[in-house]
Amino acid sequence: MTYSTFRPLPKTGALTGILEALEFSRNPDFAKRRFDRLGNIFETSMLGQPMVFIQGSKAINDLLSQPEAIEGWWPESVKQLLGSHSLANRNGVAHKARRRVIAQLFSSSALQHYSPGIINLVNELSEELKEAKTPLPLAKRMRRFAFSVIATTVLGLEGNDRDKLFADFEIWTKALFSIPIPLPGSPFNKALKARKRLLKKLQTVLVQPVNSKGGLDLLAGGLDEAGIPLTDEDLGEQLLLLLFAGYETTASALSCLMRELYLNQKVEEWLLEEIDRLDWPPAPKDATSAYDPSNAPRLNAIVNEVLRLTPPVGGFFRLTKQSLFIDNIVIPKNRVVQVALAASNRHGIDDLETFRPQRHLENKSSLNLIPFGGGERVCLGKSLAELEIRLMVVGLLSKLRLAVIPDQDFSLRQLPSPSPRDELLVKVQA
Ligand code: HEM
Repeated sequence: MTYSTFRPLPKTGALTGILEALEFSRNPDFAKRRFDRLGNIFETSMLGQPMVFIQGSKAINDLLSQPEAIEGWWPESVKQLLGSHSLANRNGVAHKARRRVIAQLFSSSALQHYSPGIINLVNELSEELKEAKTPLPLAKRMRRFAFSVIATTVLGLEGNDRDKLFADFEIWTKALFSIPIPLPGSPFNKALKARKRLLKKLQTVLVQPVNSKGGLDLLAGGLDEAGIPLTDEDLGEQLLLLLFAGYETTASALSCLMRELYLNQKVEEWLLEEIDRLDWPPAPKDATSAYDPSNAPRLNAIVNEVLRLTPPVGGFFRLTKQSLFIDNIVIPKNRVVQVALAASNRHGIDDLETFRPQRHLENKSSLNLIPFGGGERVCLGKSLAELEIRLMVVGLLSKLRLAVIPDQDFSLRQLPSPSPRDELLVKVQA
């Protein structure tokens, strides 16, 4: 590379970043508009914080392939609510050591162990829908499902314990992307209090005799970067992260998928032809593979298309520890870089604004999608999330034909993850 090929970093010119932050929270096309004007990399300001946005495979690969030059970064509210032990807030060897411990919860044998619990939760929802006398909010039920998978099948919590945890967790989640000043009565203050109660509960779970229903026994003996066993305080914060990372994301994918089926009835019919050929429930020994892409290619294409058009994580962050080149542009040291997945997934020359799952079955597709991130911080729960989504879609649709109530708002709220504003009211078709 010669110096003449370097390009200056395009900037929006925003200084205080107040209007930018407001528009970012309201307009899902915030990044796209600026990419259209300034190219695949630009810098703006968000409430005084300089932030570089990037899209496209070249820029994203350039960033993630230089792990020595970057580290994880989260907004202050997320940082404080997750806590300093959380692997999301750790870097280098401390991050790697905790990833190794937590990854054991998502091995293929662990997933096999969780499958009967997940199938039960799917069947419970089917029954509830069948018996409901009035329409049910499916998006809300998907959140309860995704939470229960982690709380019940991974942590081994039952009934009352789980419900108490859920109530505090909702208070905690609401303030994740809020102003991190703990004024009395503010959402952030309430969330800090809920965090204390949550950690206390999670720590009591950790010291209970091993609960064979969950997967926590897999964490026994987990070591930190110095080879010392992780404290219960440390493990508690890792479990809190799992609830955060695995709850809204998976629920969002499921709700958006069901919404797309309603909005694209031909795609729904196409999927039902495949589902009608599959058995439900799967044989216990095949539960983790019965609906994988080789057995259910249409379902896989639909999931990929939902994760492309409405990614549950629309963007993630890195902080530059030193200056680095991304697509021939120098990004200075100490810059927050946002990988704008949502905008990136619609960027290119194809019909990328259209919901068309078939594109993922065509050989010519050149899409390079990373809904679960990439590099050293790639999602730890990817296989669990994929399993939950496949079991829920096949389990629900092989038993029921759902009718969506037409007179409701199908538009999506964007934060923390896309979800239908009116919660996708449905009833079972007579
Ligand atoms: C459709 C569902 C999901 C999507 C789209 C998703 C997406 C992502 C993405 C993009 C990241 C990377 C963030 C970054 O690079 O900074 C991530 C990280 C993470 N995810 Fe997921 N996720 C999903 C479900 C889950 C589930 C079910 C769990 C676990 C129960 C989970 C646990 C995690 C953890 C622990 C991290 C942090 C990894 C690290 O910092 O090293 N995720 N996820």
